[in-house]
Amino acid sequence: MRPVKLALLGCGTVGSEVVRLLHEQAPDLTARIGAELELAGIAVRRPGRKRGSLPVDESLFTTDALGLIKRDDVDVVVEVVGGVEPARSWLVEALRAGKSVVTANKALLAEDGATLHEAAAEGAADLYYEASVAGAIPLLRPLRESLHGDRVTRVTGIVNGTTNYILSSMDASGAGFDEALEKAGELGYAEADPTADVEGFDAAAKAAILASLAFHTRVTAADVFREGMTAVTAGDMASARRMGCTIKLLCIAERGPDARGRESVGVRVHPAMIPRTHPLAAVQDAFNAVFVEAEAAGQLMFYGQGAGGTPTASAVLGDIVAAARNKLTGTRAPGENAYAHLPIRSIGEV
Ligand code: NDP
Ligand code: HSE
Repeated sequence: MRPVKLALLGCGTVGSEVVRLLHEQAPDLTARIGAELELAGIAVRRPGRKRGSLPVDESLFTTDALGLIKRDDVDVVVEVVGGVEPARSWLVEALRAGKSVVTANKALLAEDGATLHEAAAEGAADLYYEASVAGAIPLLRPLRESLHGDRVTRVTGIVNGTTNYILSSMDASGAGFDEALEKAGELGYAEADPTADVEGFDAAAKAAILASLAFHTRVTAADVFREGMTAVTAGDMASARRMGCTIKLLCIAERGPDARGRESVGVRVHPAMIPRTHPLAAVQDAFNAVFVEAEAAGQLMFYGQGAGGTPTASAVLGDIVAAARNKLTGTRAPGENAYAHLPIRSIGEV
């Protein structure tokens, strides 16, 4: 059986862990898939950069991402670069050419997931993005597949590891905002520009992806009411503590009537005071947790490591295995299910 060839775009916090896991778990992965996974190339910005002791031949590095994607022997394109462009152009090119895509790029999916899904339909290609929301937690596949026979009513969660790390540190040890943010950056949780984390843009992107899947409707980051957590002070945290509460940055997406009584979707991200007895109050450090409420299933809770290179690489690897298996068996990932087209409520109506 010929190997399944991967083009890896990006080799930073997440990409380098994908390379390491591909190497360390190669025998198991081959046994599970029924063919070897082989890296055809790795596109980066600075190929000469020191990357520790990565177990790959240096000749695999290139700055020509598009050239790598277009290679005839590439089966699966794995994008862990981030940002909207050039990632969107690369992935559209790959999908239209029938190559499977695995991406962790929530910013792109939340801004223009529709274009990616359309390109995937055009090329009859797989589009997997489990790592884009809540790191290692298997969450999107349950929403995309397991809960498909049910009717989700609300999704509530902590979906940004950096801000949860900062708020937990402020709560537990009275650590200052700047100090905790710097540590979150060192641990590989924060985005390249941490404004995306602390101002709630990252959580809003994830909320849009979750709401799109949960309510079968297209929700973009621009549809999400967003308030970051930079205004939360040590004094606010101390007041919350005195009231038996803590402060978390929550994402809430729910079904409900709009001002005209039509069924609609409301999505918001903002800091919220929650009682210490609430299960979300126990979510510490960069962990994430998401409650899903559905009519038949009732309440489900998903919990785990929501950020960091290794946990995120676990989700990327899971998608690579699924895409590789599909290539070999001629099956496909579930397509987009945005058939409900529910109106989005503005914050005044939420
Ligand atoms: P990093 O900034 O650590 O790595 C980005 C990588 O992309 C680097 O290897 C960089 O190259 C490469 N790159 C940047 N621009 C280009 C370009 N124009 N052409 C080719 N390569 C380029 O990011 P992360 O690994 O942290 O994140 C990657 C993706 O995963 C993002 O979408 C992020 O939102 C998402 N994600 C991250 C998580 C985390 O905990 N870090 C968790 C979940 C998702 P070079 O190394 O040469 O600079
Ligand atoms: N910066 C993100 C976070 C990475 O802190 O949650 C995981 O998506």
